[in-house]
Amino acid sequence: MTEPTGAELGKKTAAAMALGHVKSGMTLGLGSGSTADWFVRLLGERLAEGDLDIACTATSKRTEALARECGIPLRALDDFDRLDLTVDGADEIDPSLDLIKGGGGCHLIEKIVAAASDTLVIIADESKLVPVLGAFPLPVEIATLGWGTTMRRLAEVMGDDVPLTRRKTGLAQGDEPFLTDEGNYVIDCRMGQIANATTLATALNAIPGVVEHGLFLGMASRALIGSADGSAREVIRP
Ligand code: A5P
Repeated sequence: MTEPTGAELGKKTAAAMALGHVKSGMTLGLGSGSTADWFVRLLGERLAEGDLDIACTATSKRTEALARECGIPLRALDDFDRLDLTVDGADEIDPSLDLIKGGGGCHLIEKIVAAASDTLVIIADESKLVPVLGAFPLPVEIATLGWGTTMRRLAEVMGDDVPLTRRKTGLAQGDEPFLTDEGNYVIDCRMGQIANATTLATALNAIPGVVEHGLFLGMASRALIGSADGSAREVIRP
């Protein structure tokens, strides 16, 4: 594994710290994204030592593929009653450890897995810490059927000044709409600042056609934050 630098080193350092939370006998959820990828690679190396007995499930097809490549045996989420621990990344982390997730479009399964976990540990580099959520566009996964109608309801909830964009596979004009692992669209909502995340989450949950949004409120127990200098610190939910 090539030794990373800068923000990548921060991600890897946070992932390495999370490995310290993994104990034999645990059931584990594996998150998605570039930081979670580091955790999966390090976990694979740790498993290869042969003295760790754990059972894992993945939060995306991408993580599933990487985990298999790293020799991590996987089981379906439905095989587990509860998970002991899930380690996942985030796009934004506020001081209460409320999160925006879904930059990779995996937040539906990530939220189901997080909700099934006794402990959700977030791993991230320093850039993910924000005073207020919302600079990162909030991803909202919606059903493809009637998506235009759902988007209009979303616009009513968000207000006229919030640009909404249906995510595409790339930045070019003719690029196809992005589809999640479950075959849904993602609408990115550029809010700037989210004044009341709880009220917003309730309003989004009430829109027919909204499958899941990227607000993870009160779910993370701790965040492990890695720095570009190779140090890491733990932030515990107040
Ligand atoms: C995936 O949908 C997201 O929730 C990721 O967890 C999030 O985008 C963090 O990804 P990075 O670790 O690549 O920043």
